[in-house]
Amino acid sequence: MKQYKVAIVGATGVVGQEFIKVLEQRNFPMDSISLLASDRSAGRKMMVNHQEIEVKETTSESFHGIDIALFSAGAETSRYFSPVAARSGTVVIDNSSAFRMVSTVPLVVPEVNPGDIQNHRGIIANPNCSTIQMVTCLYPLHRVNPIKRIIVDTYQAVSGTGRAAVEELSTQTKQVLDGQSTIPHVYPHQIAFNILPEIDVFLDNGYTKEEWKMVEETKKIMHADDIAISATCVRVPVITGHSEAVHVEFSNAMSPDDARRILAQAPGIKVLDDPVISLYPQPWSAAGTDEVFVGRIRRDASNARSLVMWIVADNLRKGAALNAVQIAEELIKSE
Ligand code: A2P
Repeated sequence: MKQYKVAIVGATGVVGQEFIKVLEQRNFPMDSISLLASDRSAGRKMMVNHQEIEVKETTSESFHGIDIALFSAGAETSRYFSPVAARSGTVVIDNSSAFRMVSTVPLVVPEVNPGDIQNHRGIIANPNCSTIQMVTCLYPLHRVNPIKRIIVDTYQAVSGTGRAAVEELSTQTKQVLDGQSTIPHVYPHQIAFNILPEIDVFLDNGYTKEEWKMVEETKKIMHADDIAISATCVRVPVITGHSEAVHVEFSNAMSPDDARRILAQAPGIKVLDDPVISLYPQPWSAAGTDEVFVGRIRRDASNARSLVMWIVADNLRKGAALNAVQIAEELIKSE
């Protein structure tokens, strides 16, 4: 089997470290691995497959001879270095929002639209974390009963913002418990013991950019421009694991039992749904796992053709690193 030269851009970040774990755990066929970050981390050592690897600064020369580069270092870094890498023959799988809505860049969730990977021109985009878990769960239902409308409210963990946000939540939690005041740095307000209905910047239409990503990316991944979608994205004081309350209107009525049966057979999904024993997905137990969990499946009392469900996944794994590595696995399958 061919072995690949892999690079991780943003290797020292929360998603970067998850890239390393997922590549190791899935035994990705690697001939070598380059760990890249900013100049701040150059010289730092990290372990990959029991080997110590030195982190290097990302430069335009970093991509010579690299087959696949996994990027998670923010949109600005991706915008600058992804085209440089692609020009030197590297296939970039980019976790940032920089190229997701570019029409020539495939935006891929392997359980939904793996075929789009073949159309890449050097860059493949990894979708937004909240979108990935939602479409993984909704697509198998959409295939048998086309979806007309989605209303989703998210409860998103701070690790989605990065390492500084994880530190901010833990520092503020200690400060509040010690009776001290807090000063927000990463978020506009205190996140400990609080929730913030603001993720990414506000747009002119009143939605946030995160909410609008869910609208646009869902349509692109599912190849379904006509689905009406509205989202409210909320940051909660959870370290890892995004949760979503999703109201889905289908073309025809669907029973909760039919939905459970379809979802139980779908790839990457685990149904946890038994109210009698309080069985439903939770971010605490989803953290560190690969599946998208779904439960609380019930008829929407306000609409005969709608179901309501509760979807949870590890935002760093299926929502980021795992999905990107799955894209890489699909890519090399065709070689
Ligand atoms: P560094 O640790 O050197 O700052 P997180 O999402 O957890 O905040 O991590 C962001 C990642 O992106 C880190 O690995 C960070 O490296 C990296 N990064 C930030 N800016 C750059 C840049 N200009 N070039 C390359 N990597 C960058």
